[in-house]
Amino acid sequence: MQRSDNLDGMKLCGFPFLAIGAFSAAAVLLQAQPGAALKIDLSQPKAPVSPMLYGLMTEEINYSYDGGLYAELVRNRTFRSDWTGVLNWYVVEKGTAAAKLTVDSKTGPSSALTNSGKFEVTRADAANPAVLLNEGYWGMPVRANTPFTGSFFAKSDAAGAVPLRVELVEDLTGKVLAGTAVSVEGSAWKEYKFSMKSAAGAASAENHLEIKVERPGTLWFQLVSLFPPTYKNRVNGNRPDLMEMLAKMRPSFLRFPGGNYLEGNRIESRYQWKKTIGPLVDRPTHPGTWSYHSTDGMGLLEFLEWCEDLKMEPVLAVYGGYSLGGQVVKPGPDLDPYVQEALEEIEYVTGGPETKWGAVRFQNGHPAPFPLRYVEVGNEDNFDKAKTYDGRYAQFYKAIKAKYPKLEIIATMPVKGMTPDVLDDHYYQREQGMFDLAKKYDQTDRKGPKIFVGEWATREGSPTPNFGSALGDAAFLTGLERNSDIVVMAAYAPLLVNVNPGGMQWSSDLIGYDAMTSYGSPSYYTQVMFASCLGSQTAQADLSGAGDKFFQSVTYTPGAKACIKLVNASSMAQPVTLSLTGAGGGVHPVNVQTLHAATTWATNSITAPARIVPVGSKLSVNGGKLTHTVPAYSIQLLEVDLR
Ligand code: AHR
Repeated sequence: MQRSDNLDGMKLCGFPFLAIGAFSAAAVLLQAQPGAALKIDLSQPKAPVSPMLYGLMTEEINYSYDGGLYAELVRNRTFRSDWTGVLNWYVVEKGTAAAKLTVDSKTGPSSALTNSGKFEVTRADAANPAVLLNEGYWGMPVRANTPFTGSFFAKSDAAGAVPLRVELVEDLTGKVLAGTAVSVEGSAWKEYKFSMKSAAGAASAENHLEIKVERPGTLWFQLVSLFPPTYKNRVNGNRPDLMEMLAKMRPSFLRFPGGNYLEGNRIESRYQWKKTIGPLVDRPTHPGTWSYHSTDGMGLLEFLEWCEDLKMEPVLAVYGGYSLGGQVVKPGPDLDPYVQEALEEIEYVTGGPETKWGAVRFQNGHPAPFPLRYVEVGNEDNFDKAKTYDGRYAQFYKAIKAKYPKLEIIATMPVKGMTPDVLDDHYYQREQGMFDLAKKYDQTDRKGPKIFVGEWATREGSPTPNFGSALGDAAFLTGLERNSDIVVMAAYAPLLVNVNPGGMQWSSDLIGYDAMTSYGSPSYYTQVMFASCLGSQTAQADLSGAGDKFFQSVTYTPGAKACIKLVNASSMAQPVTLSLTGAGGGVHPVNVQTLHAATTWATNSITAPARIVPVGSKLSVNGGKLTHTVPAYSIQLLEVDLR
């Protein structure tokens, strides 16, 4: 601890790494690797950094929207059923009440929702109500003094009004946490809206919804919905905690709606954007590709509003004529309707109110067009065994460019006979694989297409990645930053996972949550750190003498700041002498963020969400020099003030 170099700087700032008793300075010295040198030239920018480098990729997987970001609390609000009965809905006969729930396929409130939940109450009164219970997505979160807004479509066969109580009820005690009265009347479908507020009390997700009927009669229900407060109070909106976590990643774009989810298992179950817009009652819902059904409450406009809320540009993936089951639409006349579907989708996103689909968006509640620069045709079309992507991409490209010449069209694989504007590369690897990939773009031909790394992740750890993954991720990101003249965008996948049993279909997901809380994996914090400091230019940075698990990137904004990312994925500390040419003389303060764990297997979880989080400390560059030791298993951001 007596060293006088910048290691002491970290100690003086209370850097917790040194506070970990087991990791004494002696251990650092004993286990340190030979010193390395990092020569950074800030006098001459090397290449521009893509301002859109960091973004998000998303699809309906792992209960990302339903039971995740999309704040709806009622599960199976449209009364789907299987051989076990109506999913997620249960009948409770209190006292002497008698009732049964079935699906009536002959009546529903719209041409999109043609069936309903038929609740036949043969015996009930105020003291003995018949109850329809919804379990929610692994419970329903109730916090103190919280307003809820709800609605349902209903009709009844009873003469006169049927009084109901709608209540949020605690599982364990039966205590009513919030409730209101609604009266259903008449044999015609009508929408009923209600609101209620919880009282003071402890926050918990061990609650459910009850609809209590207090007299005999048959009632039909459809689209039973309940929302807590949402991000920016959007109607039909998103969970605030998750949106806030995403905002901290400073994403510049959102790639949606997939992924496999775009393609569908079959052509009919592809993402059909027209069926996801307008009032919820006009959305038929559809089977997703990750073993559960999608409500499509998160529809095309909701994706776009999500972009708007977080100031992201949409990267719109359009169905490209290939579905996961292997079905292909042949290029040529067969593909024309799908190309048309994509053109109309682009018009919905970008068109003015004078256009057909721009007017529909206006009518759906969003008069202003959205910005759009990138459209992606399909997803992972290298899986198409019939090898039709060359023709399919070319057909989409020609039609889209004819109408929207400024749009850049992303291809999901190399295309014979033409150079796509942008190529989407996907990488899923273990830690070592990502270390290798960290150098992948250093040699890439600058004359080829620009690169979009549309999906990537180091996959170690479940449900969310562990610290070894974060090291793999950080190493990989240094490679993307060094080459961000050609790598224009990158997005980790999958982004979200509901950690409840059965919630996950794909392990190693960036952000985990249950009904109540959410947490970031070490990989999440890596991205928060990397995106928090990104210069406008890459700098020439030459590393020598470092161990083979040491990675770096340097970007800077001349006259403002330099962002130095150092990744030590080794179990030994790495001393490094940084020399900065062109930084100007004197003393330059350096803000350091360190993400560290004692082992690669260490991780965060829903019950221990903040074991591994960035910790701040201070250093300084003095006369263009900084001698520093990067601790074992550490990811560091050094933000140098160049003013
Ligand atoms: O991110 C999970 C899946 O991985 C995506 O849906 C697909 O594009 C890829 O194969």
